[in-house]
Amino acid sequence: MALKSTNPIQTESWKQLQSHFEIIKSKHLKTLFSSNANRANDLTIKWEDFYVDFSKNRITTETLDLLLQLANELDLKDAISKYFEGDIINATEGRAVLHTALRTSKGAAIFVDGENVIPEVYEVKEKIKTFTYAIVNGEHKGYTGKAITDIVNIGIGGSDLGPAMVVDSLQYYKNHLNAHFVSNVDGDHHREVIKNLNPETTLFVIVSKTFTTQETLSNANSIRDWFLESQPEAAVSKHFVAVSTNIESVKAFGIDEVNIFPMKDWVGGRFSLWSAVGLSISLALGYENFESLLNGAHKMDEHFKTTDFKDNIPVVSALLTIWYNNFFKAESEAIIPYTQYLNQFATYLQQGIMESNGKSIDRDGNTVNYQTGTLIWGEPGTNSQHAFFQLIHQGTKLIPADFIGFVESLHGNRDHHDKLMSNYFAQTEALMNGKTEAEVLSELKKQSLSENEIEKLVPFKVFEGNKPTTSILIQKLTPESLGKLIAMYEHKIFVQGIIWNIYSYDQFGVELGKQLAKSILKELNSAENSSKHDSSTQNLVAFYRDNR
Ligand code: F6P
Repeated sequence: MALKSTNPIQTESWKQLQSHFEIIKSKHLKTLFSSNANRANDLTIKWEDFYVDFSKNRITTETLDLLLQLANELDLKDAISKYFEGDIINATEGRAVLHTALRTSKGAAIFVDGENVIPEVYEVKEKIKTFTYAIVNGEHKGYTGKAITDIVNIGIGGSDLGPAMVVDSLQYYKNHLNAHFVSNVDGDHHREVIKNLNPETTLFVIVSKTFTTQETLSNANSIRDWFLESQPEAAVSKHFVAVSTNIESVKAFGIDEVNIFPMKDWVGGRFSLWSAVGLSISLALGYENFESLLNGAHKMDEHFKTTDFKDNIPVVSALLTIWYNNFFKAESEAIIPYTQYLNQFATYLQQGIMESNGKSIDRDGNTVNYQTGTLIWGEPGTNSQHAFFQLIHQGTKLIPADFIGFVESLHGNRDHHDKLMSNYFAQTEALMNGKTEAEVLSELKKQSLSENEIEKLVPFKVFEGNKPTTSILIQKLTPESLGKLIAMYEHKIFVQGIIWNIYSYDQFGVELGKQLAKSILKELNSAENSSKHDSSTQNLVAFYRDNR
């Protein structure tokens, strides 16, 4: 069954939220804390190894009640059932959205077109497992009889960002294989990656859901040409495998059927790391760690599916985005992990969140008359404190931020970890409290400054504070906890899409540029100037062609 369609701003709850916003908008978080001694507890959700404190957000328990009422009025419960049960909720592409099926238990039954998809999910997992063992244990040898030492994932977008982020984030758990990622069509990218590789000991994993993507096919072709400069054609089957839904095109590329890891069209590219797209994860971290990642995600799926909305981490988190985006008119959200391991996490989420919810047509085909998708950005703390935090503290924009931290460090260096985490706690407190004029005055008076100098400096040193943050504290970075965290954001994306009444699982917006690039590529190789373009594009193309 299709998802229901209701303009959210026409609901009773939205109207109530609008009036409530008029009361909340000028309230300082400090006042909200002083008027409710139990605030931190009231607005914290503890689940498994997750401690999620929403209390430093510009809400009261009444705000949350109204947001939950909005979710109920828009029948989020019904939408969640459709999502998990394989209904065609990606209606514009006529597909189910079932990345959750990739991490569910073996005994589950989920039907697409009348067929239970779970047996095939487990068949593919078995194939990933067997292949991983053979590569990691050195049983699968390269053509010249040497064990594989390096793997290169060739893919882009969802066929790159998820595996690359997970392998980097979980590098502490890595085995001896060196993992590399080639994505950009920029020829310098793959050249830099392969320049020191030995073709005799390298495995190339070509990942493309459609197997039509220009970047991936160009990189795969160029890398195969480089491989064939030193190896015979017969060696290809030992060194090239592929992940795709498009089995015929993979075979036409020259890859043996046994070397193809299939995926289904009900797995969206940006949600595909749980499928065979995660082959590089399994190879680099070992199959058991890949399985733990999936188990973690499955636990979050169960939490999301079965927990009351008020205690439901992805639901509350998504509703806060609606609150800031649509009422406070905040345009972006920052993701600040306090671990260098999650260096690529914000980049990964940019595709997940912005490709999904960057839409302006509602589920009835009308242009929306409210804001949708937020801009996502971020970098790990403490580095980001020395880069862009100034703007969050004292700039003119409201930027809600998720602070993600871990109680335990992986290498156990307590001294450094305490320093890291004290920065995490201090920043969320500073963003909330700011610094009043009285505090600034008292600080300045302790310095040997004249009254005149003090007066001039005061306005620059005052921090308004009242900057919202959500503190996500997790016991330890493990494959399982990372699986939970990624799934949390996946469900957050889903809830936002339901409330905004948009389709989150297509991405037609990226097509136009791709089509134009194809026709411009032809023109770059013809002597004729095209008159099809505007004068700016025409001049740029001509300048490039004449000077390359
Ligand atoms: O950027 C558009 C997109 O279709 C993404 O959604 C997808 O993850 C990426 O291209 C790669 O697509 P494919 O896996 O089919 O090569």
